[in-house]
Amino acid sequence: MKILVTGGTGYIGSHTVVELQQEGFEVVIADNLSNSNIGVLDGIEQITGNRPLFELVDLTDATATRDLFSRHDDTRAIIHFAALKAVGESVEKPLEYYANNLNSLINVLVGARACQVPGLVFSSSCTVYGQAETLPVTENTPRRAAESPYGNTKMMCEDILKDVARVDPSLNVIALRYFNPIGAHPSARIGELPVGVPNNLIPYLTQVAAGIREELRVFGDDYNTPDGSAIRDYIDVVDLARAHVVAIQRLLEGKNTRNHEYFNIGTGRGLSVLEIIRAFERATGVKVNYRIVPRRPGDIEKVWADTTLANETLGWKATTPIEETLRDAWRWQQASR
Ligand code: UD1
Repeated sequence: MKILVTGGTGYIGSHTVVELQQEGFEVVIADNLSNSNIGVLDGIEQITGNRPLFELVDLTDATATRDLFSRHDDTRAIIHFAALKAVGESVEKPLEYYANNLNSLINVLVGARACQVPGLVFSSSCTVYGQAETLPVTENTPRRAAESPYGNTKMMCEDILKDVARVDPSLNVIALRYFNPIGAHPSARIGELPVGVPNNLIPYLTQVAAGIREELRVFGDDYNTPDGSAIRDYIDVVDLARAHVVAIQRLLEGKNTRNHEYFNIGTGRGLSVLEIIRAFERATGVKVNYRIVPRRPGDIEKVWADTTLANETLGWKATTPIEETLRDAWRWQQASR
């Protein structure tokens, strides 16, 4: 059964391709390699013994995307990861973010409808909740106006999907709202490959631990949290990848109760930045040089997921202990030097 994975050479995409192949799905990756490299295919092949088909396509190009779908008109489901994702950069380059993230989804939807693809899984984000008043957040927690163009593209894409699903009952959509994906495949063959200075906590932390960067700046210790640092729900990337497989299975087996559904994909547990540093040191035995600095503009104080719906409806649960996830991140950092 053929699954089209856009952005499949990216961080979450590549881990999902591995899990799909291990479940016996035939995968076609479409990616423009703007934030990933072709060597990821070697890593996937080393893990699964199977090299996925690769299509170099810019999904903002309507003609190229239409041609992609005509070459793969037997696609049974799509996982749409391809998107720009740096929050800070999106503030500097809003048009680039809107043009890329919205047009690529629109072109993929046109292709999906032309080929009557019945299922689509979309990469959404907990960013749609902003700073919620009540924690943990459920799927019914009201969405809040986005803090960044990046966050706004996630909201707008969710809305585009809802409107399209409403008029096309044969198209079934699941939007997965990821919390903070971290870690790497335990084989250390694939992982996160940040270009330049990492924005996110874990790649920055592992680069400091490896001596590539001098110190980790902890953004704020004056939040209203037990130790003053900000709290997030860190989800292992392999657990997250598996959530996509069960979402795809739900769509292909017609088990979805509505033709557009949302699920929170997190662990249900919030950890502070300082707790993460301590857990990393415990897990690896490596000390992290860090310094408290002022808050990062645009950051929220705390968020974690209520994952009851995903646990009960998808039959999915995050299972990897945080220490193991951080050890995998460290192994990947050492392997990719
Ligand atoms: C943000 C977005 C998320 C997006 C992700 C991808 C929001 C609310 N979240 O996550 O939707 O998918 O980026 O880029 O918009 N930190 C430090 N020092 C660092 C880096 C981070 O202390 O050098 C702290 C941050 O202040 C934060 C936590 O670590 O409290 C996690 O930060 P990060 O990994 O950047 O993810 P988010 O900002 O939560």
